[in-house]
Amino acid sequence: MKKILITGGAGFIGSHVVRLFVNKYPDYQIFNLDKLTYAGNLENLSDIDQKPNYHFVKGDIVDAEFINQLFEKERFDGVIHLAAESHVDRSITNPMEFIFTNVVGTVNLLNAAKNLWKENYEGKRFYHISTDEVYGALGETGSFKETTPYSPHSPYSASKASSDHFVRAYHDTYGLPSVISNCSNNYGPNQFPEKLIPLFINNIKHNKSLPVYGKGINVRDWLYVEDHARAIDLIFHKGQTGSTYNIGGNNEWRNIDLIKKLIEILDHKLGRPAGTSLSLITYVTDRAGHDLRYAIDATKLHTELGWQPTIQFDEGFDATVDWYLANEKWLDNVTSGSYQEYYRKMYGE
Ligand code: NAD
Ligand code: TYD
Repeated sequence: MKKILITGGAGFIGSHVVRLFVNKYPDYQIFNLDKLTYAGNLENLSDIDQKPNYHFVKGDIVDAEFINQLFEKERFDGVIHLAAESHVDRSITNPMEFIFTNVVGTVNLLNAAKNLWKENYEGKRFYHISTDEVYGALGETGSFKETTPYSPHSPYSASKASSDHFVRAYHDTYGLPSVISNCSNNYGPNQFPEKLIPLFINNIKHNKSLPVYGKGINVRDWLYVEDHARAIDLIFHKGQTGSTYNIGGNNEWRNIDLIKKLIEILDHKLGRPAGTSLSLITYVTDRAGHDLRYAIDATKLHTELGWQPTIQFDEGFDATVDWYLANEKWLDNVTSGSYQEYYRKMYGE
């Protein structure tokens, strides 16, 4: 019987990881620790929350005393740490929140794990989930490898880079059995509609303008969220202690091309004449410090652990659009209340 703590399990990627672990490992006890910020939503887990091996704990990773008490009480064997402030634009307007949760929160978890496990690290593992954004921006060619030097540009990526450094420092200094992965942009069901894809699906549906930053030429590498969850499962169980793994979709898109594809699919699904929603595209002031291009070289994960994406982009993208159209209530719930205020401040309408 293993006790696994998953932090941030009510968020986008965390909820897919919790679901995978709860269903796949009935003999594990899965604890989902989440503060339920604007981005956390227990509705994401309504299909598994009655399972006997699932437990929800509401709490803040920034609260060291609470975290230490939780570790002492539950005596976890492993940690999969996803809780974070995750949106670049919010980090530009409010960097401190990112430093508290992403840096201080991570170090609190590292301390609690170190103290609990220090007598015997055997069979224990601290898995930190990070992002490709720590590597900075690429030009037209090349891709991030695990050895690429860190060069973060946004407060978000700087806070994630800092937390990655602390995880490595705890491995090197105290021998804490840790592993890190850095993944590219995820897409799929349950993503909060502040990120490009769900935001634009929602706006197209409601005939609202589509705020494209700069010239729309920035490139992102998109991976279906369930493929990320599968990689996390593999790395948690089989990854080498002290190692880092890059995870990516080998699926680069310029923003404007991705947006046009989204418009094509949605116009068709919403029964609008082809190209109707192209008129919603509005070029707006570029994001400050906007990274031009991200691309991941996931060769290490493929050769060492045999992972590769299983969901073709066309299939995953179509399924994602269908999910947001079918889950109108989910979208309406998360876009009510404080979301309206965020939207007005961010986009001025
Ligand atoms: P998300 O914003 O959807 O979810 C984050 C979750 O963390 C929410 O449920 C929130 O309530 C919780 N949380 C925030 N602050 C907390 C705190 N102080 N204490 C406890 N819980 C707290 O994020 P996501 O997109 O699912 O990302 C999850 C992780 O994966 C993050 O660490 C992120 O950096 C990383 N990541 C994300 C992407 C992506 O494309 N979304 C890509 C690579 C890596
Ligand atoms: P986002 O989903 O915020 O992810 P990240 O910045 O972490 O890669 O943004 C993806 C890309 O889309 C990024 O290049 C910024 C761009 N973008 C827009 O053009 N308009 C928007 O309103 C948003 C949210 C993003």
